[in-house]
Amino acid sequence: MSELFNSLILSLRLLDAALAQAERRILLTFRIGFTRDFLNPDGSIGIGEIGLGLLEGRSDVEWEFLPERTRALTAEHLEGYDALGLLGARLPAEALEGNTRLAVVARYGVGYDTVDVPACTAHGVVLTITPDGVRRAMATSVITFMLALSHRLLEQDRATRAGEGWQRKLDLMGYGLDGKTLGLIGIGNIGGEVARLAQPFGLKIIACDPYAKPEVAAALGVELIDLDTLLATADIISIHCALTDETRGLVDTAKLARMKPTAFLINTARGPIVNQQALYEALVSGAIRGAAIDVYEQEPVDAAEPILQLENVIVTPHAIGWTDEWARITGQSAVGGMLAVAEGRVPNFVVNKEVLETALFQEKLSRFGKGRG
Ligand SMILES: NC(=O)c1ccc[n+]([C@@H]2O[C@H](COP(=O)([O-])OP(=O)(O)OC[C@H]3O[C@@H](n4cnc5c(N)ncnc54)[C@H](O)[C@@H]3O)[C@@H](O)[C@H]2O)c1
Repeated sequence: MSELFNSLILSLRLLDAALAQAERRILLTFRIGFTRDFLNPDGSIGIGEIGLGLLEGRSDVEWEFLPERTRALTAEHLEGYDALGLLGARLPAEALEGNTRLAVVARYGVGYDTVDVPACTAHGVVLTITPDGVRRAMATSVITFMLALSHRLLEQDRATRAGEGWQRKLDLMGYGLDGKTLGLIGIGNIGGEVARLAQPFGLKIIACDPYAKPEVAAALGVELIDLDTLLATADIISIHCALTDETRGLVDTAKLARMKPTAFLINTARGPIVNQQALYEALVSGAIRGAAIDVYEQEPVDAAEPILQLENVIVTPHAIGWTDEWARITGQSAVGGMLAVAEGRVPNFVVNKEVLETALFQEKLSRFGKGRG
């Protein structure tokens, strides 16, 4: 009888220990949710390796894709996660209301106009971006656009397919780059890389960037000038500033009118930096020669949008920079940042640096750090 009693006590103790361990595991497991826009409709990952390899074999981390594909996240979507891997969905302030668990949002890319940054800070959530991942992919995108515009690649392609290529050879002659001027609006991470990659084409490179350090521009071989002079001088203008209150509508009718009628405009930054109607009119009237745009005032852009109907425009769906290289480096950078938080460390490439000193964020960080020894 006493043997049975002892074995019952032992079983209860073992059960208790197992429950305590399970509870500890639930509390300590760092849970990452990835927005569902990483996935194709069939559930496969649409853009290649996104850093999931770094999570293999980590018993302290669980991850999943959010069950629902959404353009704007809600509080319900974020429930139960310590970290969010964010691609294109919006993260408004309402989604963070009442959330005390989320510690890090890792935005895949460098634009974060889709994220309410003050709300992140107020809730002790650190926002990271991936400048290392987008730098080369976006800069080569700009070089692609520059070469495609100057060689009239898509016009020649369309004419050839229509059986008119040979008749129209002279009409479709391109424009050489040697000795021309490339004007960059913004020479940060991406603009700087464009300057480096553009050097061998014999281009003179000028830039307008009110916040750039002269020594950085000098090291890039770039002459810093004011915007109006850049607009009037450059043969190819490429936009590389972030969308802010200051840059919204920066390139409007008056600015386009300053450009040479032979000039091209490239916008891979953000659509609302350029007034799209004004650009359409400039392209139709011949105020400028052509444009290449990856970004629009409204995304996804409506197929009936007038600018999409023009022959002298190259358009891409905010994806010209999406390559396997982009996905791999961006993924490693984003997941690396989330894992840093999981290990109680401050991640790289923090947008809202002011959050780092807040008691809310410090408490989360120390919880993760201690939990994992
Ligand atoms: N199409 C895409 O898929 C894609 C991908 C990545 C980035 N982007 C866009 O590219 C932008 C640039 O990215 P980044 O990594 O080079 O950012 P960054 O912050 O490193 O560089 C932005 C530069 O713009 C400058 N700037 C700010 N205000 C300016 C103004 N009024 N006029 C001129 N320059 C100004 C800044 O001083 C800075 O040097 C992002 O903000 C994002 O919107 C688009």
